[in-house]
Formats: sequence, C-alpha cells, structure tokens
Amino acid sequence: MKFETAEGTNPIDRMKVIGRAHDRVDGPLKTSGLAPYAYEQKGLENVAYGYIVGSSVAKGRITRIDTAAAKAAPGVIAIVTAADAGKLGKGKNNTAKLLAGPEVEHYHQAVAVVVAETFEQARAAASLVRVDYARVKGRFDLAEELKTAPLVGGSGGPNSSAPPIDRVGKFEEAFAAAPVKLDAAYHTPDHTHAMMEPHASIAAWKGDELTLWTSNQMIAWSKRDIALTLNMPLEKVRLISPYVGGGFGGKLFVRADAIMAALGAKAAKRPVKVALPRPFITNNTTHRPATHQRIRLGANTDGTITAIAHESGSGDLPDGGPETAVQQTKLLYAGANRMTAMRLAVLDLPEGNAMRAPGEAPGMMALEIAMDEMAEKLGMDPVEFRIRNDTQVDPEKPQRQFSQRQLVRCLQEGATRFGWSKRNAKPAQVRDGQWLVGMGVAAAFRNHISTKSAARVRLGRDETVTIETDMTDIGTGSYTIIAQTAGEMLGVPAEAVVVKLGDSAFPASAGSGGQWGAANATAGVYAACVKLREQVAQRLGFNSADVVFDAGQVTSGNRSAALREAAAAGELVAEDHIEFGKLGEEWQLSTFGAHFVEVGVNAYTGVSRIRRMLAVCAAGRILNPKAARSQVIGAMTMGVGSALMEELAVDKRFGFFVNHDLASYEVPVHADIPHQEVVFLDEADDKANPMKAKGVGELGMCGVGAAVANALYNATGARVRDYPITLDKYL
Ligand code: MOS
Repeated sequence: MKFETAEGTNPIDRMKVIGRAHDRVDGPLKTSGLAPYAYEQKGLENVAYGYIVGSSVAKGRITRIDTAAAKAAPGVIAIVTAADAGKLGKGKNNTAKLLAGPEVEHYHQAVAVVVAETFEQARAAASLVRVDYARVKGRFDLAEELKTAPLVGGSGGPNSSAPPIDRVGKFEEAFAAAPVKLDAAYHTPDHTHAMMEPHASIAAWKGDELTLWTSNQMIAWSKRDIALTLNMPLEKVRLISPYVGGGFGGKLFVRADAIMAALGAKAAKRPVKVALPRPFITNNTTHRPATHQRIRLGANTDGTITAIAHESGSGDLPDGGPETAVQQTKLLYAGANRMTAMRLAVLDLPEGNAMRAPGEAPGMMALEIAMDEMAEKLGMDPVEFRIRNDTQVDPEKPQRQFSQRQLVRCLQEGATRFGWSKRNAKPAQVRDGQWLVGMGVAAAFRNHISTKSAARVRLGRDETVTIETDMTDIGTGSYTIIAQTAGEMLGVPAEAVVVKLGDSAFPASAGSGGQWGAANATAGVYAACVKLREQVAQRLGFNSADVVFDAGQVTSGNRSAALREAAAAGELVAEDHIEFGKLGEEWQLSTFGAHFVEVGVNAYTGVSRIRRMLAVCAAGRILNPKAARSQVIGAMTMGVGSALMEELAVDKRFGFFVNHDLASYEVPVHADIPHQEVVFLDEADDKANPMKAKGVGELGMCGVGAAVANALYNATGARVRDYPITLDKYL
C-alpha cells in the first residue's frame, strides 16, 4: 500500500478500539508463566544443552585448544570450535565474529561450545576445555585513544560518505563574538542492556533446514545474518521469537547463543539449547559505548542562541561505528551558526552498538545540562531559555519543516503541572528536614523513523480475525496494539483478534528497534486490513468506497451484512505492506517532550533520592495510552539509572568490563523510583503514517538523565558533568 497524506475518510480515525487504554492481550500468559520464551519451547524431543566457552583474553590469537578432558567428561556429546565449524561468514550487523578463532577480537568472544545431555554436564565440561592464547596488547582507554582518533561522518561509521564535520554559517566567529558563552565537557560511561531474559536460543536441524527459537527484536535482519554467518540459503533458515523478555537494543542482532546453538545442534545431530549466562552477557554481546562530549553555546544577552557546537568522541572495534551523540543537536534548537562532529577511536573492548535511544540518550544527557548551565549564565529560567530557541524548521535545512513539533507546549504544560514556578533558581536554598531539595528540567527529543512493514490478515469462517507478521513484542505491547488496529479496521473488539508474531514464516515487519516498532508495524497491519476490507466488500457485493465496519457488521449505504457472511464461502486472506515514498525527505519526523524531576539530597550523608518525576510527550497519536505510559515510565526509570547508577567499569589493563552481573552493575529498583506522571499531548501526525502515530518508547528516556543532573545542581550547587552522578562527585 502506497501511503498518501491526502485528507479522506480514514477508518482508523474513529478511535473506537485504537487509542484506548487496553490491557495487554498477552498479559495473562506472561503473568502465569505460560508464554513460551525462546528457551522454553515445548514439544521438542531429545534436546541437548550447549555451554559457551568465552575467550579469557581481549586480543590475541588462539594457539591451541585441548578438548580431550572435556570430551571425556560425563554426558558430553559434541564440542565445536572454529577449527571444526567449517567456514563461517559474518552478519551485516555484527562487528566482531560470533565464534573466535584463531584471532580473538574481544574478551568473552565465544571460542567453543560444549554440548552435553544436561546443562550442568555441559557447564562442567566447558570448564575443562583448555585454551592457550598468544595475547597481544590492546587499546582499552577511550580518553587516550581519542587523542588521535579520526573524525567520522554521519551515523554510518568509518566508511560513511557523509562529511566529517557538519557546518551551517560560521560557528567559530559567532562563538567568539557572543556576549554569553559556555564551553564544557561531558562524559557518559559504557552501559549494558541488562534485560531480564538473557540471550537464549534453541536450534533444530531437519536435513539442511535450520529452525531457531531465539530471543530477538528484528526477525528479518537476523534471519539474513544467520544465513550469512552459516553460509546457507536464506530460505533454509526459520526464526521464531514469539516472546522476548526485554532487549533494549541488545537483541537487535544475532548473537553467539543463536550461532553456537546452530553449530552445536549440527554436531550433536540433536536440537540444542544455549543461553548466555548473566556474567557472560556484558562482555560477549554489545553495549552502549561511552562518550566524551564537548558543547559550546554562544548567545545574545536576550537568550537567543547564535552559535552551537557539539562534538562527541566514542570508540568501537575496527569497522564499528560511533555513538551518534550529536544527532539531536542538529535539530533541537535554533541558531544561525552550527557545528557538529564525531570522532571514533578504535578500541579492543567488546562490541559497541545500539542501546535504547542510541545517539540521543547520551547526547541529550550532555546537551540538556549545557542548556541548564547556559540559562543560568544568562540569568534566564531554563524553561524560558528553551522556548526562546525553539524552531519549527530543520535548523540545518530550513526548507524542511517538522511534521509536528510541540516542544514549547510540552515545556509549558509540564511547568504548570509540576509547579515549576515554585523553583528557587538559586541552588542549595530549599530544605525539607535533612534533605536539600532541587528541581530540574530537560527537553526530550528523539527522531521517528518510517520503515517498510508487512502483515497478513485472515478472516476465518468462524469470524476469527488472525494477524500474521514477524513483528516482535519485546515487552512493549505489540500484540495489543496490533489487535486494536485490526479490531478498529474490521469493526470487531480487540479480543476477537488473534495475533501471531515473531515468526520469519510471516510477512516481514518493521521489527522492534529505534522506537519505530509500534507505529510502523501497526501501519503494515492497517495496509493488510485495507486490502481485506476490499475483499469483504467484494464478496458481499458492496461498494468498497463507502463501506463501514462496526460491531461485527459491514454496512454500505442502506445495505448491511454480518462480517462473518463474507467468509461463509471460505476464508479470506489479504497481505500488504506500507511504503512511504518521498515523505521522509519532505518532512522531518521527530518526537518531543519535557522531563521534570525533583530530587532530594541528604545534607548529612549526601545520598540522593528522586522525589517526583513528570514527562509530557508529543509523539503523534498514542495507540494505547496504558501501554505507552508503561513504555515511558520504564524509559524514565532507565533515565534515572543512567543519571545516578549505571556504569560499566573498564579494566584498562586486560580490556573487559569488570562489573558483569546485576549485583555490581546497578540499575534502579522500585525503592529508587517515586510515582511517575506521564502526560501525552493530543496529537495525530498525518505525515508519519496512516495510523498518525510515531514512536514514544525511547523518547521517554531522552533528557531524563540531564533533568536529574540539573535537579541535583539546583539542590546542591554542585555541577557534575560526569555520569553517573554518584555522591562522591558532588560532596
Ligand atoms: Mo533500540 S536500541 O533500537 O532496540
């Protein structure tokens, strides 16, 4: 289906089913433990267990692997190393190989899988595999490596053809001439996804056909990458991922569990299960790379920004890409003279890659502190300073407008609801018993991405509506909003729709990533439903132009029939996808918001507590306010983690992340988070897709870290530019 923006009667606009707060249709299955996650598939016979051996050096060469003792251990069926895995390729989305040998590219890169009758036997035997390495010196110190790191363009990594420095006007001259200036450096550390469900897969071969039940966000990408890695035809690979216990970007790509399960199953001639143990995930999979950022702002005394520059440096393995932390600075505020640039250092740490709101999440953590600092220098309220510098066009390409941009309303609405006017602009003035109290604000910004998405819809003879698409539900509510979409389009309640997801045998969807899943996947379902509506009208002999689907009835003019009559002569099946044409070039599609936070800092111990949080979001039509709120409060919680707790500690001698478990990598728990309020502005973005929806799940995180940092400054008067803001930094 070609998506047009022309006004017309769009059945989705009736909002009888979509746009309503609907409980998760998969909720009962999940809360009762009956939802089959990748590792829990039932009905497979003779399943064996694989346990991965990870490299104990970060960089070097395997000189010898001795598997004799492991092979002789009880229950062992097979052991696979690079030496006996055959020639392996590499997935497009993998930077490092998923099975090392003879070269080792990073710590805990898989070097072998041991397959045994039980998990315990596999684990015990894995400890008997002896690997000798010739270790070489690696590069593990980001600050050191950035001193000589080259500039890289755009978000396309070192091979991108985009210019290495984006400029508008004359930044240096305007900055030098500005009466009020800020030049400050910010640092964000490496983060790990720390999702609940570890990476896990079961592989089963039938001849040369591979089926993988695997916990994965992007089925079509990953099917391709499995075929590329195992050098097999695409059509011989099937991925099944109906339930995913969190991903946050860590499961966008194929990881070692899937590949080692496939190799282990081939060697064992039996289905094989592989899960990555928690202490293995951090260094074996991907992480959000640390950044060193510099922001320069120049403004007139009235608060108008005249010069804005954002530079960011990050590191990755050879052929990796930068953390695109300057992304939002290209679009968020006006300013005639602008510059953004990124440097990329080569590091031999584990692979860096996407984690929730890659680019904007760490970028906003810096930019929105800088805005707070600048407002103070100007003697302006930070809400007012942001409003003063709003823009309704892309500041780098003024002929491009934002399809919708309600940043100002988000800030104003939030300020009113939060009681911002009671904030004392002078830091360290407000006391509540032994607590110093402060308020902070930050803008929220995240781009919306339109991407192709397909689905199939069936209308059965019993009136059951079934949706089939390879879309995933990573805890986000995809099942529910897809049921609501089909319900709205076909005039049945969401409960009457059976949603089947996460199977590569179904039409390829947008998948779950980059906050694009909800809007695009439902738009694909919409397209399939438009086609089915035409078939229904045809079967019933109705004019499809004016047909209305409501309450199980199909009506055209003064004629009406039950929906089930259309399928009486046999099941109807329709499949289609959504396409966006040139829309993305004509309009800038972004989502906006404002975060308000109140913190308390204990005057005696220095302990910080979050006291109140509010997010106001403008992100197109909200398909299910309950699910969207859950996404945003989860994102706000993650934002608090990035502000106060999360940090992978780098061992710069041996090149690995030290705190590789949930005991030592701290994330917020319930006791850390107060009641969170979320407000969605009424918005419908008809430039985005026929659902008029955009993403919201990552918007909810962008800016939170800085709002917390700004509140801590307001409470204490200590400005910390180095995350996480632990008490040793402001005492
Ligand atoms: Mo998101 S980091 O694209 O899953």
